[in-house]
Amino acid sequence: MNLLSEIKGRFLPALAGLSGDVAALLDMIRPAQDAKFGDFQANFAMPLAKQLGRSPRDVATEVIGRLQIADLCEVPEIAGPGFINLRVRTDVLAARLSQIAFDDRLGVATVAQPRNVVVDFSSPNVAKPMHVGHLRSTVIGDSICRTLRFAGHSVTSDNHIGDWGTQFGMIIYGYRHFRDESSWQASAVGELARLYKLVNQLSDYHASVALLPAMQQNLEDSRQKLKQLQDGPDDERKKKLLATMRKGFAAAESELQAAQEKVDRIRQSPALLAAAEAHPDIARRAREETAKLHAGDAENTALWNQFMPVCLAALQQIYTRLKIGFDLTLGESWFNPFLAGVVESLQQQGLATLSEGALCVFPEGSTAPFIVRKTDGAYTYATTDLATIRYRRDQLAAQEVLYVVDSRQSEHFQQLFATARLWGCGDMTLKHVSFGTVMGSDGRPYKTRAGDTVGLESLLDEAILRARRIVDENDDRREQPLLSAEERGRVAEIVGLGAVKYADLHHSRDSDYVFDYDKMLATTGDTATYMQYAYARVCGIFRRLQISRESLRGQAAAIELGTPEERRLALQLLMFGYAIESVLSDYRPHLLTQWLFETANAFSQFFDKCSVQNAESESLKRSRLVLCDLMARAIRTGLSLLGIEVAEVL
Ligand code: ARG
Repeated sequence: MNLLSEIKGRFLPALAGLSGDVAALLDMIRPAQDAKFGDFQANFAMPLAKQLGRSPRDVATEVIGRLQIADLCEVPEIAGPGFINLRVRTDVLAARLSQIAFDDRLGVATVAQPRNVVVDFSSPNVAKPMHVGHLRSTVIGDSICRTLRFAGHSVTSDNHIGDWGTQFGMIIYGYRHFRDESSWQASAVGELARLYKLVNQLSDYHASVALLPAMQQNLEDSRQKLKQLQDGPDDERKKKLLATMRKGFAAAESELQAAQEKVDRIRQSPALLAAAEAHPDIARRAREETAKLHAGDAENTALWNQFMPVCLAALQQIYTRLKIGFDLTLGESWFNPFLAGVVESLQQQGLATLSEGALCVFPEGSTAPFIVRKTDGAYTYATTDLATIRYRRDQLAAQEVLYVVDSRQSEHFQQLFATARLWGCGDMTLKHVSFGTVMGSDGRPYKTRAGDTVGLESLLDEAILRARRIVDENDDRREQPLLSAEERGRVAEIVGLGAVKYADLHHSRDSDYVFDYDKMLATTGDTATYMQYAYARVCGIFRRLQISRESLRGQAAAIELGTPEERRLALQLLMFGYAIESVLSDYRPHLLTQWLFETANAFSQFFDKCSVQNAESESLKRSRLVLCDLMARAIRTGLSLLGIEVAEVL
């Protein structure tokens, strides 16, 4: 049990009878924001006093009077309007730390009630190269799987790849009409990516050409309206209206600009323009290819079978580099045989109805229909997802399914979950673990200079290249370099990959973040590199003193916490379990990076103030060595839950 849960456990009887919702009050006992308020702070006296119609200090005094905590904490203090400040007894910290000193899990027990959880993550659409947008799902999902497993849950990771969507019609069409045989022979995935992009560009061109006049008209209308309003009389309404209209105008303008760019890109190239003119109905024909594939057309199925292995191999290359694996890779296509049954069952239960030829579910609280079969008979993303839920429930016995997917799909998941509940899957917990966008320094989604999405492969290459420079500089600075060229390469890989993963994970997942190599590889601050440095620093201490970390384990660990820095570090180390619990309460890995950062900072202060080598006594030296060893394990274990490795020398 972690310290905080233990403290909460003590408050439980002290609060009994004072309020109906004790759990909510216990929730207000948190780690203190500032060490001067102690280690933990209880903030419930204010709301509780309101409920009881008494003064908060009075209520706090009464609760403290009932509280039996002397064996754990010093006498609680009441501060300000009624905050209760708690400081754990230093001897308790020392004793607790001794108990976990050599435990690889840092004393974190597994959960009492393990759940069976499926984590649906990464799930890229194949046939397009994996890009920076796929990084988030892959890295966040992997970290969630690792943390759940660490906590003792049973986890199935499932890569629900998009291998059945409209992009196949596009590459089938592209392959038939635009394939370059020698490029195809040289690099099949490269050629497929080119074909996808080409068909997309040509389709966009025609769509934009068709839309441009209406867009121009729209913009002109907004301009007129805006002008009228500006010239009109000033009143209260005008200001508000102006702001809304300016926004609308800006949106119309950027829409027009985007469409114009799509047209210009083709017109600037005679070859592209000729291709566009030779294929005026490319979008429709590509859609027809998809429909034929779904209907079992032999030729398209053969092409699909030819494309899939190369696409999967390219994906696998990225996963291998990222050191991320899956228990299952059941793509959308895998569920194809079940789709008719899903739709039939929905109809039988009276959940799906025909609307303008399409079969739809209208889940409560949703304005749009959830289409499970289109007018032309094609099944949809919704249908495959419903089939997948049923499979996960019936075959995998999942109690909980997490979908680690971009926040832009939140409406889809709301509808999906609502439909699944109606359909009889209400006993499962379904959760959309959503995340924001990776941005460039210009504040727009991260793109290459040419405007393409950034391929993951090149992004990882760049990070590792930059990491190599850091490793080289570091090692060259030593009187005697410690690393061979080969080892430097291996360490650079660890540092580069770690930087990319950590940069993603340390942002609260809902927010967008700006991709910045310099920031993510900084050796100070909230980065993997800083954490990896801290680890290497600890290893360095043992190396210089010529003491092996294993040798410490021979005898009991007597911990001495005589300085504030040692005490602070001890408390941090004991909070690991709480950090894990916090991550899993809403699947937020950044709460783990936060703990790591605070722990590394606490270590850094300890390291500055408390000499290991010149400790005043042998026992103090040993105590500090044990702290160092624990610190190394804390970082290694914490980072491993983020999918990040460490190196002994950096
Ligand atoms: N392939 C989808 C995409 O790239 C993500 C799939 C997420 N998983 C799911 N079960 N819908 O947008």
